[in-house]
Amino acid sequence: MAASTLKIENLHVSIEGKEIIKGLDLEINGGEIHAVMGPNGTGKSTLASAIMGHPKYEITQGKVFLDDEDVLEMEVDERAKAGLFLAMQYPSEVSGVTNADFLRTSINARREEGDEISLMKFIKKLDSKMAELDMGEEFAQRYLNEGFSGGEKKRNEILQLMMLEPKIAVLDEIDSGLDIDALKVVSKGVNAMRNEEFGCLIITHYQRLLNYITPDKVHVMMQGRIVKSGGAELAQRLEAEGYDWIKEELGIKDETVGQEA
Ligand SMILES: Nc1ncnc2c1ncn2[C@@H]1O[C@H](COP(=O)(O)OP(=O)(O)OP(=O)(O)O)[C@@H](O)[C@H]1O
Ligand SMILES: [Mg+2]
Repeated sequence: MAASTLKIENLHVSIEGKEIIKGLDLEINGGEIHAVMGPNGTGKSTLASAIMGHPKYEITQGKVFLDDEDVLEMEVDERAKAGLFLAMQYPSEVSGVTNADFLRTSINARREEGDEISLMKFIKKLDSKMAELDMGEEFAQRYLNEGFSGGEKKRNEILQLMMLEPKIAVLDEIDSGLDIDALKVVSKGVNAMRNEEFGCLIITHYQRLLNYITPDKVHVMMQGRIVKSGGAELAQRLEAEGYDWIKEELGIKDETVGQEA
């Protein structure tokens, strides 16, 4: 498998007729970890959902390519099969489907017919990844996310990431609600994924995650666009000073939550 590139060009996304993403450009290459930071309501999760093909999000302009494949032409399941993965900010609970069954089905849905993972191989991989993430065995047989604590859900998203081994992953606030030890475990999981064939976009509010996962690039998203990019030092400055200096630098007017100009 060769290294993959996710390329987003001039993306515009609307929800119920309201434009949320307003001309966003971003390129993530295999081997790279990028972080996106930005105030609440600027469209970070919208970006993640739009990449994955959530039907509520209407792409009005722009392009998304995974290598030379046009992502926007693909159905949701085709995007997953092509190697895109999203760890959601608010993972849903699915009653009646065990975590193990969900994972096995998801892995096989990404493989060609006749090339399904054997049960033995699956169990071996699941056991080893769960051990890496310090997850108790019982989580394999519990219903997907049902009754999981906030932190357990996040850890479970990383389990999915490690089991599915996508080409490009978007991790939306994977650090929110994690205790200090869980933060380290989740970071260890993401770092274990690091290789030339894997590109990752981490959406986060806090620099502390980036103490454990060193990003190659940090982007600031405001008003539906990436307005500034830099290295890890950019995240440190945001943590120390907030976003006002960027607004001043770029002449961005303050916005009230939900009442964007
Ligand atoms: N399904 C939806 N229906 C209506 N409005 C929506 C929907 N999804 C998102 N929005 C609006 O789009 C804007 C961007 O939301 P989004 O969730 O992408 O922000 P965010 O940058 O991820 O914020 P946070 O940091 O709080 O997670 C918000 O004003 C939000 O209310
Ligand atoms: Mg969000």
